[in-house]
Amino acid sequence: MQQQWSDIDAYIESHLMPEDPILTQTLQNTADKGFPDHLAVAANQGMLLQMLIQMNQCKRVLELGTFAAYSTMWLARALPEDGYILTIEGRDTHAALGQENIDNAKLKQMVELKVGRAADILKSLPENFEPFDFIFIDADKQSYPEYLELSLKFSRSGTIIFLDNVIRAGDILDEKNVKPSIEGIREMYRLMQNHPRLLSSTALQTVGSKGHDGFALAIVK
Ligand code: DHB
Ligand code: MG
Repeated sequence: MQQQWSDIDAYIESHLMPEDPILTQTLQNTADKGFPDHLAVAANQGMLLQMLIQMNQCKRVLELGTFAAYSTMWLARALPEDGYILTIEGRDTHAALGQENIDNAKLKQMVELKVGRAADILKSLPENFEPFDFIFIDADKQSYPEYLELSLKFSRSGTIIFLDNVIRAGDILDEKNVKPSIEGIREMYRLMQNHPRLLSSTALQTVGSKGHDGFALAIVK
């Protein structure tokens, strides 16, 4: 099935995805530097992020897990020139690559990359930090429950929270799989269920060039 899923993603991309030199150069530089591409979002998912931001006229975006900053480019494309992105990356090698790609892109929006464990960085932000309109959680899956709670501290009513990789080819249903990353995702589902600060939540499974995975989406009450 994987070949067909990839072929269909390629078909969608060839019809609906824009030619954008910034996106192309980001992927090219990432490959040139020897980094894998499976950690990055697929283009059609990047476009979904962009459209959710556009639909809700978001201006302030938080991203946990920068990697190559390819998703950051999609987030930036959606923002007006006075938009702001705070993106946090825990791994030094990924942060260096992400910063290089951000610098090369010469984006008009302010994109601030901070290096360190996302939870530590979020805890170090002032309590009165202006809330984010859109939060993309895509860092270490083990910490998703903590990232969700911390995200809520920097949210307002209507903030959208998007969590990547919450299906993992069905590993979440495999009881024998007790990897911290999978347990973290399961705990995230339990936390989202009837969370007093969430208006509504869902998750969708996806297939495509990145395999079988999915994302969760929540709106802050
Ligand atoms: C992995 C992480 C991701 O965020 C992703 O989109 C795909 C894979 C990983 O850690 O394997
Ligand atoms: Mg991801």
